[in-house]
Amino acid sequence: MGEKARELAGADVERVLEELNKAYADEWLAFYQYWVTAKVLEGRYSGFVAGELKRLATEELEHADELAERIVQLGGRPLGSPNQWTEQSTCGYKEPPRDAKDLDKVIRDTIDGERCAISVYKKLMDMTRGTDDVTFQLIQHILEEELEHEDTFENLL
Ligand SMILES: [Fe+2]
Ligand SMILES: [Fe+2]
Repeated sequence: MGEKARELAGADVERVLEELNKAYADEWLAFYQYWVTAKVLEGRYSGFVAGELKRLATEELEHADELAERIVQLGGRPLGSPNQWTEQSTCGYKEPPRDAKDLDKVIRDTIDGERCAISVYKKLMDMTRGTDDVTFQLIQHILEEELEHEDTFENLL
C-alpha cells in the first residue's frame, strides 16, 4: 500500500476502491468473453472478427492489470476469486452464441459490453475528478481505449 498514494487520493478512497474492483471484475469477464468467442467463431469473415476480438481481449487484460496495480497502491486488494467476478460485475458476461456463425450477435454483444464499460469509466472519472488525479488519468486512458473498441465494432455492423 502506498500511504502517500492514499492520502493524495482524498477522502473517498474506500468508495473508489469498491468501484475499481467492480471495473476489475468487468475487465476479466470481457477478456474471457472476447477470448473464448474468438476461438469458436466459424464461417465467412469469422477470421476477421476473431482477430479484432483477440486484439480487444489483449487490451481488456491490460486494463485488468492496470486496475489491479492501482487498487494495491491505494491499499486495496484485487478480487481474489473468479467467483467474485460475476457477483461484482456491472456489465456481466455473454457466452459465445450457440450458432458459431452468428457474427451479428457477437458484434452486438461486444458493442453492448463496450458501451457498459464506457458508462462505468465515466462514473469513475466523475468520482475522481479533482480529487484523485492518478486514478483519474488511468481511467481516462482506459476510457479512450473502450471508446475505440465501441467504434471498431460499430463499424462491423
Ligand atoms: Fe477494458
Ligand atoms: Fe473494451
